[in-house]
Amino acid sequence: MKISCIGAGYVGCVTGTAFAALGYRTTIIDINSQRIDALINGRSPIYEPGLDILIKKTIGNTLYADYSYNYVSNSDVIFIAVGTPSTNGGNVDLSYVEIAAKNIGENLNPFGFTVIVNKSTVPVGTADLVTTIIEETSGLKNGKQFAVVSNPEFLREGYALEDVFLPDRIVVGSNSEKASQIMKKLYSKIVTREGFNTFSDVITLNRKCHPSLPRYYETDVKSSEMIKYASNAFLAVKISYINEVARLSDALGANALDVARGMGMDSRIGEKFLEVSSGWSGSCFPKDTSEFLLTSQQENCELSIVASAIKSNKEMHDYCISKAVRSLGTLNNRTIGILGLTFKPNTDDARNTQASYIIEMLLKNGATVKVHDPQGAEMFKSLNGHLDIEYCSDPLDVFTEAEAVMLLTHWSEYLYIHWEDAFKRMHNPYFLDTRNYLKDIGLSDIGFYYEGIGVPSHKQSVTTSAASLIKI
Ligand code: NAD
Ligand code: UGA
Repeated sequence: MKISCIGAGYVGCVTGTAFAALGYRTTIIDINSQRIDALINGRSPIYEPGLDILIKKTIGNTLYADYSYNYVSNSDVIFIAVGTPSTNGGNVDLSYVEIAAKNIGENLNPFGFTVIVNKSTVPVGTADLVTTIIEETSGLKNGKQFAVVSNPEFLREGYALEDVFLPDRIVVGSNSEKASQIMKKLYSKIVTREGFNTFSDVITLNRKCHPSLPRYYETDVKSSEMIKYASNAFLAVKISYINEVARLSDALGANALDVARGMGMDSRIGEKFLEVSSGWSGSCFPKDTSEFLLTSQQENCELSIVASAIKSNKEMHDYCISKAVRSLGTLNNRTIGILGLTFKPNTDDARNTQASYIIEMLLKNGATVKVHDPQGAEMFKSLNGHLDIEYCSDPLDVFTEAEAVMLLTHWSEYLYIHWEDAFKRMHNPYFLDTRNYLKDIGLSDIGFYYEGIGVPSHKQSVTTSAASLIKI
């Protein structure tokens, strides 16, 4: 079976490389020549642990990369993995999917049967839209020469290879029996883990953590499209819930980490996605919750819980700022250091991160801001040119003359900062750890005034509404 993958981003690169590693001849196609050049030269165009090694191993053997859609006509399966960002109004922008569908239609093989797979996160009805575009541009017939199926992607950045090779479930929505059979065959190696030993050395698969085989779940196209949004929104709600519990823990003197642990022991609740943070962010949850909510409102069926999670998440960002305000008295003329610009560690993805909102608020309130991130600084800078901040290449430099330092992303390398040196550099040693990541390394013993979120500290808890402390 031959595969094309349209889009060489976080999903396309990982999906394409994974199928190539499983032995399928796979061509990744992108209009971004820098990304294709990187692939051709055996490099990953994105930072994702393990991906570089797997690309090096497969490129030129089973993996290929191309600027044009020529290879589409040779493919049995074509994945659409292009971006689906938000429009200014908060709905999904499907223009990249539409252009990809048109280009596929113009290059489709009229003599075979091709399965076109919507892997991008797209709203209910998009498979129908893609079908119409392909019929119009190719003159071919849905169900005869091609079929469009939905196969949403559930990978997390930073763990993408693990999630693609060892997923909990694979969801395929199809209204064509022939396409369903092809999809089942394509995924059979992942479902059975057949042949995994040949590359497990390079992707450090910890199968002990994944004892059960993935579930292969077939449904109709619309339900499959909905599963993706419903899942992301549910996860966002779960995080917002524990973050609200953390705020209440701060007020009452409980320990949110213990609360989360105690809750997670109930298998109905589960321990995952109960980590307290400054709020969820990134290239997926904000746009997907926004699209899901707007669609529900347009259908007069508002998902009020999703609306509340979105509101609660912004309040969580504000709450972190209010903690710093409570400690410093004011942000005006204060120097604040920020550790971490990406929405989570192990990725260079700085799209839509909580750091951009929090830094903007700090600047609006008169602070001077210095920042560091091990992988995401370049992308953050290119997306946030309006923020007048100092980028530091050494994390220690954000501490110099600072009145407060906030850790937003729990990069493991922050565990190894020379903390005595960091302490000496600060004007006022206030440290806000929004991930409770450094709670056990004795920062208070060095002299820092260390605060986490939802965990007791030696100063009075923050109960004042965030909005009353800062200019929103
Ligand atoms: P991305 O922005 O990293 O990559 C998209 C790529 O598509 C870009 O390289 C772009 O140049 C390319 N592209 C756009 N239009 C094209 C066209 N007409 N032809 C060829 N290439 C084109 O995006 P991503 O993060 O990989 O996300 C892709 C989709 O997958 C989105 O719908 C996203 O919601 C979904 N998703 C993302 C993740 C994630 O963790 N990033 C996880 C699951 C699902
Ligand atoms: C998320 C989903 O987890 C994936 O299943 C999905 O495929 C993807 O979105 C997508 O659709 O694009 P991702 O955005 O890579 O994956 O990152 P997550 O690990 O889910 O984290 C999202 C945000 O929530 C981050 O800011 C993270 O720090 C935060 N988070 C996560 C918490 O604050 N607490 C947690 O317990 C977990």
